[in-house]
Amino acid sequence: MKSRAAVLYGENQEFKVEEIEVDEPKENEVLVHLAATGLCHSDYHMVTGEYGPLHFPMIGGHEGAGVIESVGPGVTRVKPGDHVLLTFIPSCGRCRFCSMGLGFLCDMGANLIAGPQPDGTFRMHTTDGQDAGQFCHLGTFSEYTIVPEASIVPLDEDMPMDRVCIVGCCVPTGFGSAVNKANVQPGETVVVFGIGGVGINAVQGAAVKGAARVVAVDPVDFKLETAEELGATHTINPNREDPAEKVVELTNGVGADKAIITIDNVMPEHVGQAFSAIRKGGRVVVTGVANARHQHIDVSPFELTLFAKEVVGSMYGDSNVYADLPRYLGLYRAGKLKVDELTTRTYSHDEINQGYQDMLDGKNIRGVIVYDWAR
Ligand SMILES: NC(=O)c1ccc[n+]([C@@H]2O[C@H](COP(=O)([O-])OP(=O)(O)OC[C@H]3O[C@@H](n4cnc5c(N)ncnc54)[C@H](O)[C@@H]3O)[C@@H](O)[C@H]2O)c1
Ligand SMILES: [Zn+2]
Ligand SMILES: [Zn+2]
Repeated sequence: MKSRAAVLYGENQEFKVEEIEVDEPKENEVLVHLAATGLCHSDYHMVTGEYGPLHFPMIGGHEGAGVIESVGPGVTRVKPGDHVLLTFIPSCGRCRFCSMGLGFLCDMGANLIAGPQPDGTFRMHTTDGQDAGQFCHLGTFSEYTIVPEASIVPLDEDMPMDRVCIVGCCVPTGFGSAVNKANVQPGETVVVFGIGGVGINAVQGAAVKGAARVVAVDPVDFKLETAEELGATHTINPNREDPAEKVVELTNGVGADKAIITIDNVMPEHVGQAFSAIRKGGRVVVTGVANARHQHIDVSPFELTLFAKEVVGSMYGDSNVYADLPRYLGLYRAGKLKVDELTTRTYSHDEINQGYQDMLDGKNIRGVIVYDWAR
């Protein structure tokens, strides 16, 4: 079938919105008509080349919500007409990692950024016959998409898809980075470096868990103001103050219990800065993505040992999507997790390049594309 899609033909190019060809769903796959998709920074790393070599053309997008159009053979969990949220890592439920409760490391996600579906073949094609990759096996920048059944979570029909689409990535990633990986405890001091779509949810996660101090760090004042509205107790603009020094001062020389890095382009020195901001036995959670060519972090191994500090990575906020996404949606329904407020602006499909420019210019907590039929 035909679909309109924002196609990326190579690094440092704009997305080209044009017609593409989408196949029929194969075994254990579903065809989804998307209502909306968030503009996460993870898609933009393809533009800047931070992931290293990729398959092009590529259809980006991985924060999607929509309606099942049709299902392939063997699909049992959903039927046409069902509303669904797409998950940016599939969860097969039976690999070693899914079985251990580490669904965010599911083996089915092994080639997440490579382009083809998990079986190595393509479902999207440009009109001149090239196979187009689908970022995270999703490619939600195409209005219609084929995805594995393992990449969907059913969504209640009264959930506004143009708002909750971001529960596909930035909400669980940020919230879970605080709640799961940082394991924030009541009364702790938590520092969040980088207040984009992911970081604002780390702020919310820390606040929900009862952190006494939630310190938001970002060079853009609008981000800091938003963080204060959503649970931050203190803010630091690194262009004006040294974040590590300020946090140590705030905690009477002790340091923060936890630091979460949700900066868009994580540099070795950002990890060093967070490491200097935490107390003895504290934990740094690295959630933001670094350029794949970096091979080190600026951390003193001496201090790592003698102060028994921890530096850990986190994917998807350590969320197990079938269990955790419905819980996060429940918190949203109960008014305890803000989601509507995180979409600063919505865009039409044709405005995708403007949406990403606004992200780079620091104008959005999250930009969201709402497809015409769902506007
Ligand atoms: N680990 C995962 O599972 C996962 C999932 C989704 C996104 N990510 C990654 O998380 C990162 C954030 O994504 P996003 O969509 O929120 O990006 P974003 O661009 O919306 O937000 C990044 C924020 O970092 C701020 N920033 C830049 N330099 C800073 C500095 N030195 N100190 C403090 N703040 C600084 C920016 O001003 C911006 O507000 C990206 O690298 C993205 O790829 C990781
Ligand atoms: Zn994302
Ligand atoms: Zn699995």
